[in-house]
Amino acid sequence: MMTTRAIRIAVLVSGGGSNLQALIDNSRDKPYEIALVAADRDCYALERAQKAGIPTVLTSAQTGMKRSEARDYISTALLERVHEYRVDALVLAGFLTIMTGPIIQEFSQRIINIHPALLPKFGGPGMWGHHVHEAVLAAGEVESGCTVHLVDAGCDTGPILLQRKVPVMPGDSAESLAERILKEEHTAIVEGVVLLAGRLALTTGV
Ligand code: GRF
Repeated sequence: MMTTRAIRIAVLVSGGGSNLQALIDNSRDKPYEIALVAADRDCYALERAQKAGIPTVLTSAQTGMKRSEARDYISTALLERVHEYRVDALVLAGFLTIMTGPIIQEFSQRIINIHPALLPKFGGPGMWGHHVHEAVLAAGEVESGCTVHLVDAGCDTGPILLQRKVPVMPGDSAESLAERILKEEHTAIVEGVVLLAGRLALTTGV
């Protein structure tokens, strides 16, 4: 009888890690297990992982590296780590390095990202954190939200898996809008990983 096993995910982080915490808190009876948390800088997300007993790795750019060198360096180091931890899929949860090269090819269709806006609008280079919400407010949008999408070689491009919407309220600041969206992200990130697990449906010969 063929059964499917939980997918082993590496969660890639650069910041506070509230999306990582949502994945940790909701992992019971779900088709995923967090095999590794990898950061490109020291960040509170690493503490969250350590408190949960999840292996962590920190690979930050070496001083003096150009941005493109840093991207290559981090991407190469991450590929080695994900092999070491037998990772099936990558989950970018506030990860600020645009990965390049072999890791993108090898994990094609097996990397998801969460973005705090309704892509394809308000995405792309420079569109992260408060920059996104400021752009949404400046554009006079009446709604925003978050998007979970498959990662391709671009930035915030790739097929959309799901979106969750919130209203933009009169008088919203970037902070108040971000807070409203972040609550939805914590549901979206778990739903997105479950969808990814279904797409991969890793069978184990039994
Ligand atoms: C989230 O807003 C996510 O959409 C964006 O970066 C932020 C990460 O927040 N990619 P956290 O580190 O998960 O709290």
